[in-house]
Amino acid sequence: MSAMSPSITTVLGLESSCDETAASVVCLEGGRADVLSNVVRSQIEEHSPYGGVVPEIAARAHAEIADEVAQKALLDSGLSLSELDGIAATSGPGLIGGVMVGMMTGKALALASGKPFIPINHLEGHALSPRLTEDCPFPYLLLLVSGGHCQFIAVKGLGEYQRLGSTIDDAAGEAFDKLAKTLGIGFPGGPAVERLAKEGNGIRFDLPRPLLNRPGLDMSFAGLKTAAARVVEGEDLDEQGVRDLCASFQSAVADCLSEKTARALAVFQEEIPGDTRLVVAGGVAANQLLRGALEAVAREAGAHLIAPPLKYCTDNAAMIALAGAERLAAGLVAADSLSFAARPRWPLDEASAQSDPVFGGGKRGAKA
Ligand code: KG4
Ligand code: ZN
Repeated sequence: MSAMSPSITTVLGLESSCDETAASVVCLEGGRADVLSNVVRSQIEEHSPYGGVVPEIAARAHAEIADEVAQKALLDSGLSLSELDGIAATSGPGLIGGVMVGMMTGKALALASGKPFIPINHLEGHALSPRLTEDCPFPYLLLLVSGGHCQFIAVKGLGEYQRLGSTIDDAAGEAFDKLAKTLGIGFPGGPAVERLAKEGNGIRFDLPRPLLNRPGLDMSFAGLKTAAARVVEGEDLDEQGVRDLCASFQSAVADCLSEKTARALAVFQEEIPGDTRLVVAGGVAANQLLRGALEAVAREAGAHLIAPPLKYCTDNAAMIALAGAERLAAGLVAADSLSFAARPRWPLDEASAQSDPVFGGGKRGAKA
């Protein structure tokens, strides 16, 4: 192709790091993304009896349908493998069995078609997800809050990420899921808790707001989860009691996340003054109480809140395809990418990870 040809980059992305098997084709033209197909198969039914994601069940379920999901994404896009510019796949962090399935599928398709393979950090996918639908130029502040992750990231450019703070134990969504499991109200827990909380009294139970009394941007939800579990053990909750506990728990999570977000915005704006964009991504971002609280925090700080549509907020492959296309277009794909080894832990911001001895040593794990 000549240097005069318009820069169009089309990539198939694969995602399988948790409990969604997903594939998508994204076309990037002049910085604008077009999602040509977006297939997501959830494993909620398989994991529901256990109240959480079981890694072995997840890996097997991914292996069973990965090929079919990739084929469907191609079919829906109207393109053939030979018309793509590359194949991207989540290559970490996440449940390693599932990551291996998606990565090997991606490598096989890349080998068969002679296209470059692009290993993608799942967190980079989330970090770039607002760019699928919004005009969202760098830099921006990201609050990623899901079942597996809870962190603030300053997204300064493609491949330039600075972790400003993260949970030191559970992710917020995980805490929702565990409360729901304790109460026996369903999986995933967040939507179930939110539904019951709508008719509950959010100040009936005095639950802790961990780490709010300490400076800094790190978060913690394990103590809150335990405090809620104690209420369940210690009281014979009737139906209204369950609703009140859900509402009290949801308020505590929203308080923690919104106060820490206000602090994170202040830190971000100190370094990067001017127009500030605050992006919230991850499944917990679906929570209406939290969204309202974050909107207020953003307004207060003079920032603009961007919440990608839910289908791009929760785990999906369009964000992986976009990350692949952006990397390919920027010439950021290593020549030996086919030998990339899957990484169960893969911090987005390696520098912060290395300077923080708690991180990566097992305590914060993949959630950081
Ligand atoms: O991003 P996601 O689909 O998957 C990952 O964890 O990566 O997020 C799922 C998480 C679950 O923990 C779920 O309980 C939580 O997001 N969640 C919610 C709501 N909807 C989903 N949490 C609170 N309120 C909700 N409405
Ligand atoms: Zn995710």
